[in-house]
Amino acid sequence: MPEVLCAGIIVADHVCQPISHLPAAGELVTTDGMLLTIGGCAANAAVDLAKMDVRVAIAGRVGADVFGRVVTDFLRDAKVDVSAIQSTPGFDTSQTLIVNVKGEDRRFVHTFGANTAFQATDISLSLLDKVKILYLGGYLLMPTVTQDDLTTLFAKARAKGVKTVLDIVVPANSECSSRFDRLLPYVDLFLPNRDEGELILGESNPLKQAETFLRMGAATCVITLGGGGSVLASGDLRLRAGAYSVPFIDGSGGGDAFDAGYICGLLQNKGPEECLRIASALGASCVRAVGTTPGVFTRSECDQFLRENTLTIERL
Ligand SMILES: Nc1ncnc2c1ncn2[C@@H]1O[C@H](COP(=O)(O)OP(=O)(O)OP(=O)(O)O)[C@@H](O)[C@H]1O
Ligand SMILES: [Mg+2]
Repeated sequence: MPEVLCAGIIVADHVCQPISHLPAAGELVTTDGMLLTIGGCAANAAVDLAKMDVRVAIAGRVGADVFGRVVTDFLRDAKVDVSAIQSTPGFDTSQTLIVNVKGEDRRFVHTFGANTAFQATDISLSLLDKVKILYLGGYLLMPTVTQDDLTTLFAKARAKGVKTVLDIVVPANSECSSRFDRLLPYVDLFLPNRDEGELILGESNPLKQAETFLRMGAATCVITLGGGGSVLASGDLRLRAGAYSVPFIDGSGGGDAFDAGYICGLLQNKGPEECLRIASALGASCVRAVGTTPGVFTRSECDQFLRENTLTIERL
């Protein structure tokens, strides 16, 4: 029986080892290796939770194509319950081509594919009977996940005693400030990064962002700041956490790993400070390696890291 249901974006990532230069038109450039793996907030968080020995299921959409089978197999092999993944005829599986060039930032080519067909109403209420936490990753990026449908889903989850966790991806040039007023009162934990907070609120200070999201209804809000750590607001509590010192290789998936770590803390009934420690450890572990999940700690690695490293957490 799963304890957590991760819903939302599922992607097949094609990644190449760094190439010497971008090929010109008609040119062939070779790479030492190419990887086909999973990406997307819901898939990343689900794999991270499974690495932490949490029983987890995923709900989302893939295309009726070979990539849909590949990502489903990958998730199943990672011990994620895949029975609520829907194969969607007429759509490709969402994919990202990640082109690494030596000494340069990564380039992405993305197709939204079947994620554009995912709706909050895909999640049957019977799925919620089993779980303690419902996580939705990639809100705003999925055009058919409307505020009203998601509010209804989160309200029903809450009524069943399921905690609701929301993370977002803000598409470029989108109007997003009006998509939270009805939803946030049903969100137990809201986890945007600072840039996303600024795009929604027009405010750059992460503490002010978190306090505003609380006033809009979220029970707890954590604003993440990459290597700068995070800021938490919950009731009257205000915390600023630093980041663990790790060798930085690739930031992708760091936010999803942070989310998974915080959820692990909630499952163990830990308070906000301990949840921030586990979340920050998982986020830091992720950025040590290329890809969204390979670097993420297993449960025993995380426990050892937490014993051997301290995180500065300041009460504001
Ligand atoms: N360079 C780093 N060193 C240590 N910890 C990091 C680093 N980058 C991220 N983290 C940890 O992971 C958390 C989340 O990172 P970040 O704010 O980049 O999320 P994000 O922008 O949502 O990332 P993504 O969308 O790529 O998954 C941070 O609050 C921090 O605890
Ligand atoms: Mg994020």
